[in-house]
Formats: sequence, structure tokens, C-alpha cells
Amino acid sequence: MQVVILNSEEEIRAYASEHILARVETGALSVLGVATGSSPLPIYEGIEQRWTPAVGSLTAFALDEYVGLQPSHPESYHAVIDREVTQRLKLDPKKVHVPDGTAANVDEVCEHYEDLIKEAGGIDLQILGIGATGHIGFNEPTSSFASRTRIKTLTPQTRRDNARFFNSIEEVPRHCLTQGLGTIMEARELLLVAMGTTKAEAVAQAIEGPLTSMCPGSLLQMHPRATVILDRQAASHLKLVDYYNYVFNNRPTK
Ligand code: GLP
Repeated sequence: MQVVILNSEEEIRAYASEHILARVETGALSVLGVATGSSPLPIYEGIEQRWTPAVGSLTAFALDEYVGLQPSHPESYHAVIDREVTQRLKLDPKKVHVPDGTAANVDEVCEHYEDLIKEAGGIDLQILGIGATGHIGFNEPTSSFASRTRIKTLTPQTRRDNARFFNSIEEVPRHCLTQGLGTIMEARELLLVAMGTTKAEAVAQAIEGPLTSMCPGSLLQMHPRATVILDRQAASHLKLVDYYNYVFNNRPTK
């Protein structure tokens, strides 16, 4: 795992978007896994600023969606992905996929979503944030490491954390559809971004804690190509900060 600790949101914007654009330009990235939440926003802004036609032809798969919110609801992940990803990156909406959280048959929707990812050739790079509970996607603590796209129940903590996007906590759905941890692990590359002290403990557990479903983010330790990009605050509970900085400053040029 590569841990990159940067000084500001501006540095994160530049580093993460250049990382992705470099992959797009070499043709190594044509299917992008996208995440909602505030953490990945600088990445989308950075790519928008450096947009190329190759970006516009990307296929995208969202990590998750609330159950029961109409796609027209401004906080449904359909709407968020449309605003922050499809429009900014000028993607073809037909090539941007978000699981349907309003469908009557949830299992069918989840199975179909897995099939769509397979048909697209798998996800080349998955962008991730991390929740204060250590969740990635909406895989809350004790999610199976082998899980596939399915319906999950949000923890009270996640509902409280996400209430800031709604008028009140009562409006935050209790259920979601999320790519499973097994699904996420099949992406060829993972790029997790976290900022701020509220993420420091989850980040420390994910990077330096034991591999445990109590912190789903710790599964990144098992991925052969995972990069975690942090600001100083999100990195503040890590023990090996000096080592990560040393590795980054002496990174191989080849
Ligand atoms: C949300 C999303 C996650 C996201 C996380 C953190 O609930 N489902 O994919 O990574 O919570 O969000 P934020 O970046 O806003 O802190």
C-alpha cells in the first residue's frame, strides 16, 4: 500500500487527478469506479480542470446508492454522481452506472449490477472514501470480505454523518445498495482519499490496524495496488508518518 500525505486539499486535487489522468492517457484506465461523499470531490474537480477527450469516453460505476430515494432526489447517488461526475467529466450518461435503489426486486438489481461490471471488463481504478466507521462504499463493520453488491443497513453513526446532506436525520434512508468488499477488491487499482481529523482513527485502523471486518477499510491491506491519499489531519493517528513521507520523497522514478 502506498500512503501519500499531502499538505492541502489543493495538493490532493492535483496529485490524485494527475494520477488518474496519467492512467487514462496511457489507455490503462477506461472503466472508473466512482464514489460519492465530500472526499473525492477534489479529484473530480482536478480532472475537470485537466479534461481531455479520453476522459469523456470513460465508463463509470458508482459504489453505492440509497434505497428508496428517487433518482431525482438531489441527495440520491444517481443525482450526486450526475452532478459531480457525469457533468463535470462530460461522460456519456449511458456509460455511467448507479445501482437502482428504487427497484422492487433488489436482489435482481444487485446481480445485474455485478454482470454489468463484468461485461465492461471489470473496474480499472476504484476511487474510495472512508467513513468514520471504517466503511468503504457502504460496507459497514462486520461486512463479509467476500461480499458482492447487495442491500445493507446503515449504522446510526453513518446516518448521523450523512444527515448533513438532508434536512433532518429522519430523511436519511436506513438501507442502501453497495458494491461488496469482494467486488471492490476485484478492481485492478484502488485509490482512497481521506481528509480531516474525523477520519484519523478510521484511517489509522485501516492502514496500520489488524485486518478485520470490524474496519472494512483494512481490507485495502490485501490489495496489490492500493494508494491512500491523506491530508495531515487524516494522517494524524498514523504511527509511521515519517516512513511514509520518506518512501514518497524517495519514490522510484521508473
Ligand atoms: C458515504 C459514502 C462512502 C463515502 C463515505 C465518506 O456514506 N457511501 O462511499 O466514502 O460516506 O464520506 P465523506 O467523504 O463525505 O466523508
